This record gives sequence, structure tokens and C-alpha cells, in this order.
Amino acid sequence: MNREDFPLLNNDIIYLDNSATSLKPKSVIEAISDYYNNYSANAHRGDYDLSFKVDQAYENTRELVRDFINAKYLEEIVFTSGATEGLNMIVNGFFANLLEEGDEVLLTTSEHASNVLPWFRLVNKLGIKINYIPLDDNYYVTIDNVKKAITSNTKVISLAGITNVIGDARPIKEITKLAHDNNIFVVVDGAQMIPHEKVDVTDLDIDFLAFSGHKMCGPTGTGVLYGKKELLEHLEPINLGGGMNESFDNPEEIYLKSLPTRLEAGTQNIAGVIGLGAAVKYLDSIGMDKIKEQEHFLRKYLIDRLIPLKHIDIINIESDSGIVTFNVNKIFSQDVAYYLNKYNVCVRAGNHCAKNLKSSVGVTNTVRVSLYFYNTTEEIDNLVELLSNYDKILKEMI
Ligand code: ALA
Repeated sequence: MNREDFPLLNNDIIYLDNSATSLKPKSVIEAISDYYNNYSANAHRGDYDLSFKVDQAYENTRELVRDFINAKYLEEIVFTSGATEGLNMIVNGFFANLLEEGDEVLLTTSEHASNVLPWFRLVNKLGIKINYIPLDDNYYVTIDNVKKAITSNTKVISLAGITNVIGDARPIKEITKLAHDNNIFVVVDGAQMIPHEKVDVTDLDIDFLAFSGHKMCGPTGTGVLYGKKELLEHLEPINLGGGMNESFDNPEEIYLKSLPTRLEAGTQNIAGVIGLGAAVKYLDSIGMDKIKEQEHFLRKYLIDRLIPLKHIDIINIESDSGIVTFNVNKIFSQDVAYYLNKYNVCVRAGNHCAKNLKSSVGVTNTVRVSLYFYNTTEEIDNLVELLSNYDKILKEMI
């Protein structure tokens, strides 16, 4: 659906790598070029109309995002360069000042590197401990397994809302309830969740959330860090500089601005933030429930056609998103991707930045198809036809 909105789809390409980045609709591209063509002044610095217009557009995105995830306050929405930066800010700006040696952080083995490596650094710096919530047979997180993994030292549970290889959705509301009953913080990596379903941070009672703009039809280099206001107040800015300070004279007298400005040092990605606003408006105009429904329909359509192919081993027969991960018998995943590329089919192959997952799944590399609402059954038919002939893949893969 809505294919006419995406200029790139005018090309003869079957784009099935939407978890890496989504395509951008015309309205987003136009919002960015409108800024550069017509009012490309700085934000929050100029005392002239052009700059006021920029302030308005920039802050309008904050309001759109607040509404999109149902945050209570505008101050809870901080613009970042992406989910990676948001997660690093949460870990290094908040938890690095709070956690102590022996404190435990719960992760899972299916987390993306951005939700693992910042914590690993705290292991090395502070002597905190990381434990992993065991996954069930379908590589899902169950609330029972979370309960079992919690100890009296657990201080944080940090996990993806939807994972980028298995595509499973975590029971976030149950997890936050359990965590808060035990005085544990919950951090959610929303990179693969926010673009694909309606998320209400207030209802889910999430403490911190990070996500990227570029996976939700927005520009690259944009993202959002959400945090409950009372927690964000204690998040130490990683970047200090212009725009975020009230005044300074010497190292003892540095006065910072209030939230969220204090966490947005330097000239921001203004064009990107304005484009992100257009992306939020665009997704809202379609409706997140409709987007989710379409992805589930397409996923089932693909899975039903892959199951009969005996040379295909599907890793995630069960999943809650448009992610389908598989291997072709005895063929290296990247060779499969190169083979599909010959027919203009774009998929991702490898470990997908989830390098710990091999310990649970037993394979290091896979082929990943990630669908979005603008994909079609015809595209899936083309893919399945290419995958159905094992001898052809073997012959043509390199
Ligand atoms: N994190 C992105 C992916 O899963 C890049 O492909």
C-alpha cells in the first residue's frame, strides 16, 4: 500500500531491507528540501523571522513525537542522531553515575550491539555485572524467565521492544510492572518497534526509550531519546557546548539550560528533525494499526510460501513483525544475498549486529527479509520464486 508515495519504488527494485533503513516518502524529502530552499537558518539562536520559523518547525516535531508516543511532557523528548546515540546517552549519562560494582543489568542474547556494548563498557569501568534473560524455544522473552533472572542486585532491565533478527515483541508492560515492583529501571531499545506499531510510553510505563528516525520513513541521522522527566533531570549531558548552557565563567560556575535543550548541545540536525516531523505526520496519516496489520499479513504470506521449501531453514517461524530470518541449506548467507541482488532484490545477510544471538540460535549468519507496509505480495512471489530453485541458487550464487 501507499507505494506511490515512495520515489525509490519507481525503480525496478524489490526492497526488503526495511529493518536496516526504511524508504523515505515524498513528503519527508520535500520537508527537508523546503527547509534548505526556503528557511535554512539556525534554531534557537536568531532574533529574526527566518530563525523564528525554524524554531517553530523544529519544536513542532517535538510536539508531533510527544503525541506519537504519548509522552506526558515535551521536555521528555530529546532529539539525537539515532537509537545508538540515545542508548549511549542513557547508559553513560544516567546509569554510569548511578550503578556501582556488583549491580546487575539484565539483557538478552538477541539485543543489538547498541544495547550491549555501552553496558559492556560499564562492566569494565564500574565492575557491574550483566546477566541474560533466557529465551524460550522460539527465542522469545517470557515474563516467567524475566522473573527467574531478577536477583536482589538487579538494577536495570534493558531490552529491545522488537528485536532486529527474530522480530519478537517483548511483553514490555508486564516487564515494567514487574521491574518497578522490584525497584528496577527499564530501558527500551525502540529502533525496530516504533516504526511498526503504536507505542504509548505512558501506558507502558517505560523509563527510557531510544529510537531512530530513519527506520520510520524519516531521515538518517535523526532519533529520539525519551525519558521520564524526573529521570532525564538527572541525565548528565555527554556533549557540552553552545545552545545548552545558560552561562559560565569558570569551571565552578556552569549553569545549564533546562530540559530538553540541555541535552541538545551544538547546532542540531535541523533539516533532519523537520523531516522526522514529516515522517511522524505521514505514519499517523496511514495509522500505526493499519501498518502493523499489513506487515503481519505480508509476513504470513511469505512464511506460508517459504515453509514448503525444504532447503530453507526458517529461524523465526514465530514472530510479531515483518522480519523473516532464514538460511538456505549449506549456502553462506551473504552468497544468498548476492544471488538475490542479481535480480534487484535487497535483503540483509550476516549477524545483523546481534553477535550474542549465535549462542541461543546456534548459527552466526542468516539472511534477513524485513518487510514494511509498502511491500507487496507480488514482490514476495518474486522472492520466493528465486529461492525455490536450489540448483539455480547454487549455480548463480557467486
Ligand atoms: N540495526 C539495523 C539492522 O538491523 C542496521 O539492520
